[in-house]
Amino acid sequence: MNVKQFDQLDAFLEAMAPVHDDIQHEMATRAADEGFPIIGPAAGAVLRQFAVATGAERIFEFGSGFGYSATWFAPALPDDGELILTEIDANEMADAETYLEQAGYDHLITYEVGDATEIINRHDGPFDVVLIDAEKEQYVECYELVRDKVATGGVIIADNALTAGDMDTAGIMDAVIEGDTDPALDATAEGIRRYLQHIIDDAGFVTSVLPVGSGLAVSVKHNG
Ligand SMILES: C[S@@+](CC[C@H](N)C(=O)[O-])C[C@H]1O[C@@H](n2cnc3c(N)ncnc32)[C@H](O)[C@@H]1O
Repeated sequence: MNVKQFDQLDAFLEAMAPVHDDIQHEMATRAADEGFPIIGPAAGAVLRQFAVATGAERIFEFGSGFGYSATWFAPALPDDGELILTEIDANEMADAETYLEQAGYDHLITYEVGDATEIINRHDGPFDVVLIDAEKEQYVECYELVRDKVATGGVIIADNALTAGDMDTAGIMDAVIEGDTDPALDATAEGIRRYLQHIIDDAGFVTSVLPVGSGLAVSVKHNG
């Protein structure tokens, strides 16, 4: 697939995605203005699909920004469900609280400011859905910290499996295809490559990469 076709596929998938509600529209406009990397509507729809399909009651996010991805999960939860947001930047989290309260989701949400790799240790499972969307270098660590807390049939979704800024996507793909465990990649790309290899090698989960948004690595627990 050449780059033009990839752009067209991206636009097509966005056109197929649910339309933003007013608050999502405000958040997406802000993200575009600030160049802040939100997951976007096509990937957001996938988050909601997995929350609905698993009958999710508890969801954990590594890296919540100002709460956009949470707007895709929250409506899929029951009234006594829980969505745990983590964000290292206190200002982003304060804005998440404002948006999500406005959207009427506040009763579902636990807001945690700090390093998600520490916060996860304060929360027991089981989680039905987990989103990993923080530092790419820490993806494997996030996965290992949460894997045993995921319910059977639950899912870990990692964003940026295909793109993130100027990440060397072709280099990652070549390394995965060739089984090259020591390619010359920068820290971000190496973080994603290591993550992809790690989840391929985990027999307790069945994994696929969906070329939606920035690429979603989806790992469903079946006998872990
Ligand atoms: C790509 S953004 C998250 C976007 C959000 N998931 C969405 O789609 O709306 C990544 C966020 O992770 C946060 N972050 C980075 N390292 C973190 C860590 N160790 N713990 C918690 N948050 C972290 C960053 O501050 C940033 O806001």
